[in-house]
Amino acid sequence: MKQTLRLDPHREPDLRTAADLLRGGGCVAFPTETVYGLGVDATSQAAVKRAFVAKGRPADNPLIVHLHCRNQLELYCHSVPAIAYSLMERFCPGALTLVLPKRSSIVDAVTAGLETVAVRFPAHATARAILQMADVPVAAPSANRSGRPSGTTWQSVLEDLDGRIDAVVCDAPCHIGIESTVVDVTGAEPVVLRCGSVSIQQLLEVCKDLRTLGQVIDPTVNSPGLRHRHYQPTGRVVLVSDLLDLQCQLSSAESSLGWGFIGLEALPGLNLGAGNCKASICENVDHYARQIFSFFRECDSLGIGTIYCQCVPDHGIGQALMDRLKRAASES
Ligand code: TXA
Ligand code: MG
Repeated sequence: MKQTLRLDPHREPDLRTAADLLRGGGCVAFPTETVYGLGVDATSQAAVKRAFVAKGRPADNPLIVHLHCRNQLELYCHSVPAIAYSLMERFCPGALTLVLPKRSSIVDAVTAGLETVAVRFPAHATARAILQMADVPVAAPSANRSGRPSGTTWQSVLEDLDGRIDAVVCDAPCHIGIESTVVDVTGAEPVVLRCGSVSIQQLLEVCKDLRTLGQVIDPTVNSPGLRHRHYQPTGRVVLVSDLLDLQCQLSSAESSLGWGFIGLEALPGLNLGAGNCKASICENVDHYARQIFSFFRECDSLGIGTIYCQCVPDHGIGQALMDRLKRAASES
């Protein structure tokens, strides 16, 4: 096991170290506005392999390439359609990832052998500074062990990856907390492959003929990320629509391992002091999204057996939050 360097985002020499490590084929976790990413040079087969090994990620799940400047796009992608530029104009830099035809400068391991590559321009100042200094395209999956909740703080990155990666940039918690929206723009109509913090409603303001994955019949549309387990804490995740019902369940027999609750409304009359219980009442859906992955991790560290999550309306970032909650709760 090697030492994972802790780097300070406010010290220029530390940012330089992060960039030099990336250029030299190293693995560096850095913050973005969505979640922490585990960066590697997307032009180096060996470096990309290290990210898959550190995460324990299945080789058939491709990575997103992070760039700092739009002029870089055509170095790594080709046949970029007009709609991609319209979407970039509105949402980049930011939490939007576009799937485009790939050039050979991006190694095949990044894209799991696909002819397309996912590209994102993060808005986070630390991410941008490191990408600019490194001046290589940086493939960065979320910085967590595969299947686990994404890392939204540097402490949770270390919880999963300490000793397995070269460095982590120890910045503030990510302010969105849920991953980017992934849109495939290689076909006749753009297709949303993963809901994220850029909502479907916002995307529709730019492209009217947008499809979501459930509406697509085109078999060439590829969404490898859906094949695998995702976002799962050790505790069992249960979705709750009716709080009164939950109150009854909790006040009767609950698991000896305790329970957690996260949502927008308090559970009146329940004694949190009794046993191993943890509740997080969020101010609004944005706050809920920002908290969800760290709440899962906190419950795990307390050894909590069941985590109840209040459902939210399937709209705006609520749609992405519900997607993550459903996947965390799924048995497969
Ligand atoms: O917010 C984010 O997107 C974060 C930060 C670090 O940028 N990254 C992230 O990466 O969530 P990851 O590896 O956890 O998820 C990448 C998603 C997966 O669902 C993957 O299948 C999809 O993007 N993806 C990547 N390349 C693709 C491609 N060529 N075609 C279709 N889907 C692709
Ligand atoms: Mg991930």
